Amino acid sequence: MPPGKPKFYLTTPIYYTNGLPHIGHTYSTIVCDTIRRYKRMRGYDVVMTTGTDEHGVNVERSAKKASVPESEFVAKMAAEWKALWDELGVQGDEFIRTTDLKHAHTVQWLFKQCRDNGFVYPGHYTGQYCIYDNAYVDVKPGENCPDCGRPTETVTEANFYFKLSAFQRPLLDWYAKHPDFIQPESRRNEVLSFVEGGLRDLSITRTSVRWGIPVPGEEPHVFYVWFDALTAYLSAVGGPQYEKMGFWPADVHLVGKEIIRFHAVYWPAFLMAAGLPLPKQIWAHGWLLMDSAKMSKSLGNVVRPRPIVHVLGMDALRYYLLRETVFGQDGNFSYDALVTRYNSDLANGLGNLASRTLTMIEKYFDSKIPHGGISSESDKGFFEDVKGHAEFLARAEQPLPSSVLWRLDNLQFSNALEGIWTLISGVDAYLSSMKPWALAEDGTKRDLLSMVLYNAAEALRFVAVLAHPVLPDSTKKLWKQLGQTDPLGEVKIDHLQWGQLKPGTKISKAETLFPRIEKAEAIERMETMEKEEQKQPSPVTAPAAKAATAPATGGAAAAPQVAPEKIGIEDFAKIEMRVGQIKTAERIVGADKLLKLTVDIGTEIRQICAGIAQYYEPEKLIGRKVAVVVNLAPRKLRGVESNGMIIAAAVGPEGRPVLAGFPDEDVEIGARLK
Ligand code: MSP
Repeated sequence: MPPGKPKFYLTTPIYYTNGLPHIGHTYSTIVCDTIRRYKRMRGYDVVMTTGTDEHGVNVERSAKKASVPESEFVAKMAAEWKALWDELGVQGDEFIRTTDLKHAHTVQWLFKQCRDNGFVYPGHYTGQYCIYDNAYVDVKPGENCPDCGRPTETVTEANFYFKLSAFQRPLLDWYAKHPDFIQPESRRNEVLSFVEGGLRDLSITRTSVRWGIPVPGEEPHVFYVWFDALTAYLSAVGGPQYEKMGFWPADVHLVGKEIIRFHAVYWPAFLMAAGLPLPKQIWAHGWLLMDSAKMSKSLGNVVRPRPIVHVLGMDALRYYLLRETVFGQDGNFSYDALVTRYNSDLANGLGNLASRTLTMIEKYFDSKIPHGGISSESDKGFFEDVKGHAEFLARAEQPLPSSVLWRLDNLQFSNALEGIWTLISGVDAYLSSMKPWALAEDGTKRDLLSMVLYNAAEALRFVAVLAHPVLPDSTKKLWKQLGQTDPLGEVKIDHLQWGQLKPGTKISKAETLFPRIEKAEAIERMETMEKEEQKQPSPVTAPAAKAATAPATGGAAAAPQVAPEKIGIEDFAKIEMRVGQIKTAERIVGADKLLKLTVDIGTEIRQICAGIAQYYEPEKLIGRKVAVVVNLAPRKLRGVESNGMIIAAAVGPEGRPVLAGFPDEDVEIGARLK
């Protein structure tokens, strides 16, 4: 039997369900998804776990506030988290919920192992408890939590203790033997000094909380949420039967720096007590800050991912988060920097290079990859730079610190992207200097023209493969445009060789990868959508509210359909319709269905958005006369102001829009429709 693929297991934190994801959470998940894609391209059999942390007082209170049972509350919130990750194209393999039965069994089993091995004993505890961080904190009654600054509560309860103190020495020995266990160095030092300062036993059950996993035979004890939550990493890959699945121990637990202690001290101690293997590495990244403070729901300074994805696309968010922040350190978020990066690196950088190269291949070589070959003297230096650089970046055997592979192996995402972008600007400079458009004018330079465009296309193929883990969507488009048919996610990133691009391959039409966007407009649209999102009712209360107002459709209990009421001519007269002429038309980045039009209605030029982008080419609409409702109140569609409505018929089951028009007669612009 040939040996199987090596296995790789990585995890995101499992997120609390009493809130919805912001881009801080998105950051952790996107980082994991990038590692996951990269490792797959390195030939690993990868499992990535994410999920939701659903127990505890906080949920108990939020559910009460929403007047729903806890189980319903968490089910709806977990569905929201999962839906968002799906929408962002995050390829989690396991989505674990701490209310899953298999998880409860694993927690109970782990507790039993610890208890059977003599590391659990009963006791009482009184202390200040932070319900937001789910941890006892070392402050006096009336004082706030030193970590999050919110009020603490005095709690006295019977509970079971875990003998954490017994693990001070074993943990220090472990850290010494595995110097890479905690990353980065600064976090390792923080954990070392915490453990060296002495460890106190830890209360791992609660009697003051009802919403939790019961401790078998010890009711009303339920498990402390961190004992419960950390175990999710194990329940996702087989729980007590972890050996069968073969993914435990985890290769990396990726977490935010504020939860390093739970992962690097408590979790390994629980596992040691139970006699289980320890994860190989805990990687604590920094925070996304907004106005210099940690982005968090309690501070009210959060930015949601959806508006960004709708306006700029998912890859833009992924690129920005991984390029702008040095992994491990804190990074500031700003819309301004996001759009600047988008325009400079994606639209003008990668997008422009791809479109230049492919358009010239389309024009000069009938959309077929031209032949490469030994370059002529005139482009030799440049050619060697581009080829050499591409090969260096993709170097797999003993990758050097500045190669993309080494940087991705070491989670240096920003540096890896920087490397790829120096190749992009190198190819840009190569084209500017070789001027293929001028070579095309000279019949004797056909060979050189062919080589120059081959080299540019081949470099783009390297870029598509190397950048794929970070930019999965746009690199897939580029890959297809280059005429490649193997699934990009399965291409071996460490098998790239210059010259594999086959001459004669048919390329597809050069569709813009990243349309340029005007900064102020993009920011306004994202901020408007963000405000709209914040106004949305909580998903737990929303469906009930909807049900109360929206009539049911279909099904036995559906309300009888009421015939539409007739209106009088005076009602119809309220609608002012005029003939308009389309002056400009353009697509809206992030809104697949909408076109932004300017329309002359006789008295003025109006901006109107129309949901026709999937059926009408913008260029072909210019000059066309259409029927326009001109007295509709302005509204924003995907953050773009629309001042009127273009009339179209909805044809067929999919409601394909067909614009109403005036083909037979030359009607005057502004004429009223009656
Ligand atoms: N439920 C616990 C984790 C249990 S893991 C066994 C928890 N949940 S959380 O919803 O608060 O998510 C915390 C994680 O979200 C952080 O560790 C980090 O990965 C991510 N982030 C939340 N806010 C963040 C920023 N502002 N910046 C970067 N990451 C952030 O803690």
